[in-house]
Amino acid sequence: MQIQATINEVSYALDIGSGLTLLDLLREQLQLTGTKKGCNRGECGACTVLLDGRRVNACLVLAATLDGKHIQTIEGLAEGTKLHPVQQAFIDHDAFQCGFCTSGQIMSAVGCIAEGHTRDNAELREWMSGNLCRCSAYPQISAAVAAAALQIKGGKNGAV
Ligand code: FES
Ligand code: FES
Repeated sequence: MQIQATINEVSYALDIGSGLTLLDLLREQLQLTGTKKGCNRGECGACTVLLDGRRVNACLVLAATLDGKHIQTIEGLAEGTKLHPVQQAFIDHDAFQCGFCTSGQIMSAVGCIAEGHTRDNAELREWMSGNLCRCSAYPQISAAVAAAALQIKGGKNGAV
């Protein structure tokens, strides 16, 4: 099948198989390997990307449904050498150990903050709960997301 999709502000004309997932399109066809394959069945969140601004598990999205869509991955988050506030917050708060879940956590956090689900720590944790961390860095991840939310949204809708 032929589709056109925009990934990280770059337009792609893609020739894809009907059973190809967005995750395999990114990793295998476009070599955008920042998006990780963990469970490959929608359980871990390692493959989280933004699809038209909304969080999705890329392993559960068929590439055939992406014609005309906009996808943002971890590779499209920084502006040149300037990290996105969520990326910087993960560094500042030491919010990873092995790092395998980190790109999914960061993309999910970007979506979570934009959705406004960071008003307190309990809400933030609930709305980030689809992203698992085998290293159990959850306290640092929560702190990083809260700090980034405060920076991006200010006192009103940021986490306290
Ligand atoms: Fe997609 Fe685990 S790899 S949810
Ligand atoms: Fe290792 Fe999260 S940092 S799985």
